[in-house]
Amino acid sequence: MCGIVGYIGTKDSSTDFVLAGLKALEYRGYDSAGLVTIDNGRLKYLRDVGRVANLEKLVKRNGHPAVATRDNGLSGEGNFSESSGQSRTSGTAAGAAQQKIDLSAKSTGGVASSAGQQASAANVSCGIGHTRWATHGSVTEFNAHPHANSSRSIFVVCNGIIENYQDLKADLIKKGYKFKSETDTEVIPHLIDHYLKTGDGFFAAFKTAIADLRGAYAIAAVYTEEPEKIYAARLSSPIVIGVGNGEHFLASDPSALIHKTKKVIFLNDFEVAEISANKAHIESLDKTRKEITQVVELDYDHEESELGTFPHFMLKEIHEAPMTIKSAIRGRVKPDIKTIKLGGLESVKQQLTLIDRIIITACGTSYYAGLIGEYLIEEIAGIPVEVQLASEFKYRKEPLSRGTAVIAISQSGETADTVAAIKKVEDYGILKLGIVNAVGSTLTRITDAGVYCHAGPEQSVATTKAFLAQVTILTEIALHLSDGKSKLFTPLLKELTNLPDKAQKVVELAPAIEILAKKYAHYRDFLFIGRNYLYPCALEGALKLKEISYIHAEGCSAGEMKHGPLAMIDENFPTFALACDSSLLDKTMSNIEEIKARKGPIIATATVGNKKIKSIADDVIYLPKTAEQLQPILSVIAMQLFAYYIAVEKGLDVDRPRNLAKSVTVE
Ligand code: G6P
Repeated sequence: MCGIVGYIGTKDSSTDFVLAGLKALEYRGYDSAGLVTIDNGRLKYLRDVGRVANLEKLVKRNGHPAVATRDNGLSGEGNFSESSGQSRTSGTAAGAAQQKIDLSAKSTGGVASSAGQQASAANVSCGIGHTRWATHGSVTEFNAHPHANSSRSIFVVCNGIIENYQDLKADLIKKGYKFKSETDTEVIPHLIDHYLKTGDGFFAAFKTAIADLRGAYAIAAVYTEEPEKIYAARLSSPIVIGVGNGEHFLASDPSALIHKTKKVIFLNDFEVAEISANKAHIESLDKTRKEITQVVELDYDHEESELGTFPHFMLKEIHEAPMTIKSAIRGRVKPDIKTIKLGGLESVKQQLTLIDRIIITACGTSYYAGLIGEYLIEEIAGIPVEVQLASEFKYRKEPLSRGTAVIAISQSGETADTVAAIKKVEDYGILKLGIVNAVGSTLTRITDAGVYCHAGPEQSVATTKAFLAQVTILTEIALHLSDGKSKLFTPLLKELTNLPDKAQKVVELAPAIEILAKKYAHYRDFLFIGRNYLYPCALEGALKLKEISYIHAEGCSAGEMKHGPLAMIDENFPTFALACDSSLLDKTMSNIEEIKARKGPIIATATVGNKKIKSIADDVIYLPKTAEQLQPILSVIAMQLFAYYIAVEKGLDVDRPRNLAKSVTVE
């Protein structure tokens, strides 16, 4: 959460790059945004609440030419070879500050990357920006980043949490420092200011200040006395430096800079960088680390994500379901030669034959995909699986045998808890695998091997197509681990290839589901039920609805209804029942009857041809017939559409739901 961008160079305008980068990173947080730039000795410091678009307007009012916009997206590698809180009063230039500064600082530093011709401070454009997802302090202009020291010579943006900020703040207050915000970040510019007094220069002060911080962070800073440099630091939150010719870029993820350069440096934990137009000097504050991160070349292209004719990205991404499944099976599922080929797992082929237990760890929707994976791997490959929320797993003290493999599932590859879960097992010598969508993200670099989702960029905060890809890949992993021995091997290989067409049929139900959504949008509570493979799927349906419609929704195993949830059922409490054909359908039907008997309204998904359900449920969404193991993939599309149209009916901001962010890089 929170997006950071930065620019230093002679080729571009830092304002243009920062604004475009913030737009690309807006999925990380969107409650306020700010930037500081230094161009030709002129300092521009602007912040505003709301979207990056508000900041952009503020920039224009402050005399900047029209700003080009672009969208987020990327597609190929990691280890997967294939204080005061005043509220602002208006959106005017109230948050603006411009001052003329002296351009006299000198360049220093060793070299990790060297980029082109020399640039003098006078023609260098320098800037950093931030889009915020509030952690400490409400959404106000004063809490928006960048934060500055009292003399406004040091500006800092931060993504993460400084856990010891209260102690640091108390010390600084004793030393006479005054705070303007409620944020944890504001301690950093004051701390650097304090250490600057030792006279060892800005980078030394920056490093000493960073060494005082506890928590998880990615930080960027500028110093008006050295406007030809920007500074960066990382601990457990992502930050990447883009290496250009006579320029360097900084961003929370490569999607914000890949249109400028494919040469990047992913900062490692405890690394700090002093970056000028021509050099990125990197040091590690961890004295035990000998190796400094190096320049790598990304081998994928920038993928634009355009809304096209769709009113929202979420609807567009739901409509991409058939293509998403096709991309997840392409080159991997070969029913004609009865083969499943997962190139990303080739390097660990031998180790895979030795595993006797799997732990899947993930958060949010990825966790629910993992729960479906548990059913799939246990039934198809016969290997015991446990699924654990990454936020729990990372703190659990449990025995892990050498035969255990951990699979992390993540759309973004950056979720702090999931990254921490994998880091926890780093010294155990067990196999660490990933199922990740975002190419080159942290998880793809800290796992031993994995499988890419290839779902393409997602803009909507509520994830849709990544879930389809994750469940498809978990099916492929289960089939791969079964080594062709499961009786389901051949039928499922074949059915996977039929799935894109069937998904298309579900997508085409959108107009009918829209009508249903209008009928049900006024309810305040919702229950989602299912059994077996459709139980975790019900959990995901409930999550989707609450994420974007703010309706209280719970997912429940149909068999558990009698043990509590049934008490809530009355005519004001509808149930969304997942009732596709399966060996347990009769039992689910009985549960639906029990709800009906208590006057609960019922919408059911059922397999085409099930006439009986029409007499019990108020509304039925018929889905194409498919294997029980693959029903979650088709059912979830219907539930995504249902949640989407309810949110639209309620007039809500579907793609940017309140209080949420797409990439959660804090605990
Ligand atoms: C956030 C997103 C969810 C997502 C979860 C895990 O909460 O809003 O949509 O499921 O993070 O994200 P990941 O990127 O690890 O799949």
